[in-house]
Amino acid sequence: MKKIKVKSSKHDYTVWAGKGALGMAGKVLKSLAFQGKVFVLTQKKVARHHLPALRGSLAAAGYKPEVFEVPDGEKAKSMGTLAAVYSRLLAKGFERRDMLLALGGGVAGDLGGYAASTYLRGIRFVNAGTTLLAQVDSSIGGKTGVNLAEGKNLAGTFYPPHAVLSDIDVLKTLPEPELRASYAEVVKYGVIRDVSLFRLLERETESALLRNPAVLEEVVVRSASIKAAVVSRDEFETRGERMILNYGHTFGHGFEKNARYRMFHGDAVSLGMACAARLAVRMKMLDPFAELRQLAVLRKLGLPVLLDAKRFQSAAIMKAMMHDKKKRAGKLRFVLPENIGSVTVRQDVPLSRVRSILREMGAGR
Ligand SMILES: NC(=O)c1ccc[n+]([C@@H]2O[C@H](COP(=O)([O-])OP(=O)(O)OC[C@H]3O[C@@H](n4cnc5c(N)ncnc54)[C@H](O)[C@@H]3O)[C@@H](O)[C@H]2O)c1
Ligand SMILES: [Zn+2]
Repeated sequence: MKKIKVKSSKHDYTVWAGKGALGMAGKVLKSLAFQGKVFVLTQKKVARHHLPALRGSLAAAGYKPEVFEVPDGEKAKSMGTLAAVYSRLLAKGFERRDMLLALGGGVAGDLGGYAASTYLRGIRFVNAGTTLLAQVDSSIGGKTGVNLAEGKNLAGTFYPPHAVLSDIDVLKTLPEPELRASYAEVVKYGVIRDVSLFRLLERETESALLRNPAVLEEVVVRSASIKAAVVSRDEFETRGERMILNYGHTFGHGFEKNARYRMFHGDAVSLGMACAARLAVRMKMLDPFAELRQLAVLRKLGLPVLLDAKRFQSAAIMKAMMHDKKKRAGKLRFVLPENIGSVTVRQDVPLSRVRSILREMGAGR
């Protein structure tokens, strides 16, 4: 079991990553000197596979959890589900000293974190992420939230968890497309900060996709360590460092919007990284050989690297990207690679150049 420390202005916390982390839940709560009640927020599919391990561990440490299942999918990150969570917490008499533990992917974690941060002005929160995306990204850094009718993640808080449990074993039951898409974020960490993580993906692509436990553990620990280091230094996204986590995401959000979110986030990030690297080559910041290496590893992982003109139109993508920009009242900012393992943020990319990259990568007009 690896312990990764995360700093936060509220309290520091530990990510417990490795095989059997769920089975340690009871011990982890004991180590936090926690004596209250535990509300487990989960989803049916996740609970069927992984609740027994969690329950057993909590019971062995003397905790009797109250389990509440929310619906599956992005739609569960809603005000309606949130209200249902509050009602159950109240009905079961949960108080300030008690805890909410989210067992699931980014949806359960974001919703559970938001509920925990607002119920009675904040109860304790533990995030047990069960998707690769949750383990390498969403469970670390304290961003919580729900979607509104007007758009994604429009209501939310920064609320650091008291602990994060990332059990590699639970990834065995993850649907294959979810696993594959999440590797885009892992490639991202390699390109922004960790050339040896990138090399691991190049070398062990097959084993990574076949869920070899040693490879998965290294993937999760290295990725989580980078996310932990970045958010420890820029908790509230005010110092600019957290921006590097958006590598591939400026383009990616444009693709997601253009596709009306009917695509995996990881696929959008993969396409976005392919575009960002091409842009960096065109701007003479990146060696074309490095672009090819990134392209090759994305392909080998089964991730998309070319835009399908039938699905993606450059005008609509530009519009979506500009809309994002207007909301932030800022400039269009791109995180661009200078090498495998290091990136820089640029705000001076001419729009005409962005458009021509989109066309070059296959987008229609
Ligand atoms: N808070 C953050 O910093 C942050 C960062 C990135 C993404 N997010 C959010 O995360 C969400 C996406 O998260 P996600 O990709 O984990 O999706 P998800 O939570 O919907 O999980 C994907 C699917 O996998 C199932 N599942 C989860 N774990 C499983 C397991 N071990 N075995 C079998 N099935 C399992 C779920 O039931 C669901 O159907 C989005 O809402 C996004 O906005 C948040
Ligand atoms: Zn992402």
